[in-house]
Amino acid sequence: MIHLSQSRSSIIFAHNGDSLEVLYWGKKLGAIDKAAAESIRAARTKPAFHGGLDVAPGNLILREHARGWIGHPALRGHRGGVNATNSFAVTSAVQKNQSMIAVFTDAIAGIEIEITYTLTPSDILLMDAKVTNTSEGDYFLEQFLYWLPLAEQADEVLDFYGHWTKERQPQRRSIDYGVITREGFEGRSGHDYTITQVALNHNTGFRHGEAWSLAMAWSGNNIHHVERLIDGHKSIGAGEYLLPGEVILKKGESYAAPRAVATFSDRGLDGLTNNHYSWIRSRTNHITKVRPRPLTLNMWEAVYFNHNEEGIRKMVDKAAEIGVERVVLDDGWFGSRRNDRAGLGDWVVSKDAWPNGLAPIIKYINDKGIEFGLWFEGEMVNRDSDLYRAHPDWILQEPGRIPVEGRWQQVLDLTKEGAYNHVLNQVDAVLSEYNIAYIKWDHNRHLTDPISDGRPVVRKQTEAIYRMFDELKKRHPGLEIESCSSGGGRIDLGMIEHADRFWTSDQNDPLERQQIQRWTGLVIPPEFLGTHVGPTVGHQMHRTHSVSFRALNALFGHAGIEWNINEADAQETETLKAYINFYKKHRGLLHSGTVVRSDEIIGDAQLYGTVAHDKKEAIFTYMQLTSADNFGPLVTTFDGLDKETMYQVTVVEELSASDFIQKKAPGWWPALTLTGDQLAHIGLQLPVLKPETGLLFHFKAL
Ligand code: DGJ
Repeated sequence: MIHLSQSRSSIIFAHNGDSLEVLYWGKKLGAIDKAAAESIRAARTKPAFHGGLDVAPGNLILREHARGWIGHPALRGHRGGVNATNSFAVTSAVQKNQSMIAVFTDAIAGIEIEITYTLTPSDILLMDAKVTNTSEGDYFLEQFLYWLPLAEQADEVLDFYGHWTKERQPQRRSIDYGVITREGFEGRSGHDYTITQVALNHNTGFRHGEAWSLAMAWSGNNIHHVERLIDGHKSIGAGEYLLPGEVILKKGESYAAPRAVATFSDRGLDGLTNNHYSWIRSRTNHITKVRPRPLTLNMWEAVYFNHNEEGIRKMVDKAAEIGVERVVLDDGWFGSRRNDRAGLGDWVVSKDAWPNGLAPIIKYINDKGIEFGLWFEGEMVNRDSDLYRAHPDWILQEPGRIPVEGRWQQVLDLTKEGAYNHVLNQVDAVLSEYNIAYIKWDHNRHLTDPISDGRPVVRKQTEAIYRMFDELKKRHPGLEIESCSSGGGRIDLGMIEHADRFWTSDQNDPLERQQIQRWTGLVIPPEFLGTHVGPTVGHQMHRTHSVSFRALNALFGHAGIEWNINEADAQETETLKAYINFYKKHRGLLHSGTVVRSDEIIGDAQLYGTVAHDKKEAIFTYMQLTSADNFGPLVTTFDGLDKETMYQVTVVEELSASDFIQKKAPGWWPALTLTGDQLAHIGLQLPVLKPETGLLFHFKAL
């Protein structure tokens, strides 16, 4: 029996005959000895049922049908049609600190599986598995899935779907019999990627209740399941979605499954989020440990393909005046890329777009104390490009068939050494020639035919991009990389190990963005999530929003601007300055605090905040999305503060709405003092807000 436990969760493994099962995963338990483990097993063992087998398997790690499991097995594979079933015996299971490493052997199939579970101090459970072919002949691996048992009270599943400009929309449904599956075979995690799958009780909210989550830390094809079986087992599982023939192991070869990341929370979805944040932030190379996240002006929506040095200089002047720290030149600076039909693959500065090269504009930007960033999309190629004309064989394709196009582009086969080196060397040359602190790396189409020399290679292509990012960072210390994919199409817990920022979505409309940011932030900390103030009339939804609502929307992330700021009038410019000043002053807290999201909001509004770990300071935002049915908002409580402490509560008026649907501001406006206890239980009467306006609160312990 092995019991891993940290501050709030436990996982218990126990022998089950010559196999191994997860006896329990959930709320932290006290110390358990062997006898207690036996009692727990006795207490939890399910009966063998009439009409079924004479055995009733426990929550076996490998879930073999040969051992009586009636749901999905962990492993599926064969040797050209034989050795298609498995029965593994556990040959060793050892504990090292808060890790459990088990080795399983199936002598008949000739397969060995090693799997490590590590429960981190943040209660994140990491799972890493390796499948090895120990026998003669090829083993065709079709799937390896990690599985964890769910408690009876997990009766709903929450997962996420989406598309371009509407990523990570929640759907919550009951766990009925059968399997709830989310699969992604876009060759990237994708806009429709669930980002994590959560099993929870129907009463679980942000601030209360139990939740169990599982996600693949992987940017390629993926599969997430919740399975409820007729024998009473309920489980959550995930793995890499392998294409036929993608992994064929020769004797002695291994498949290292991508890591899976799970967590249990007994403090609602906020607990689940805070576990992820604290785990990600504990990494030694975590980006905020390197430097604060610079306020970024990305020029895509300001100029699109109309690169004009004079106009960009004027924008840089204004950027310097309002306090921007990084300016990013987006698509269109290279090769024949004057529109999106040509040029991808030719990563050489275009004389047409930039007759003087990039050196003068970069110097101009740097001289104002601002960093420069540049856009690439290295995994792609237009057929109208020098690269494609020279190497038409360097695209992913089924031999003899050109894949359908996506944005007039094809996918470059990075598993081919020549193609990989072409991209690496061209990008490297640009980075070596110019002072570039940051690259925005895009990926704008699905991998429909991910075939190289006749074989599927999503896995190898995914590994290649991880390798490319790591190599570029090694060659250019301090370089930061943003993972973009038609907006938020490649945001996942795998890419977070290789990139420093995600472009959350091409959706800059703040109303739409609130939902996208809320749910992307379920597992990804705000310091990774690019959030920009867009133009007054948004380019995606064509809605008009006040600059303060846009600024409030962009504050809780890695903040920036995506707008030709020379269009901003005097009042908008002042609000932009206030936004940037507030961000710079408070980004330390915005990017380190504990998340609080209120369950108590009535109607279409959101209240969320971040509280410093010592609870001496907090920032909250109230966003009124559509109009309230009553003359709300009702009295609003603020959770997560220290009960005993007296706080000065101040409305940050420069960034908050001031034009209410009521005769005058509330009596306490714009500041008062209350204790954390009073704020949590008595709360504040907020003004009646117009739709698409918001309030920003600063809390300071007295
Ligand atoms: C898609 C990205 O999401 C945008 O931000 C922009 O970089 C364009 N691609 C450029 O083509």
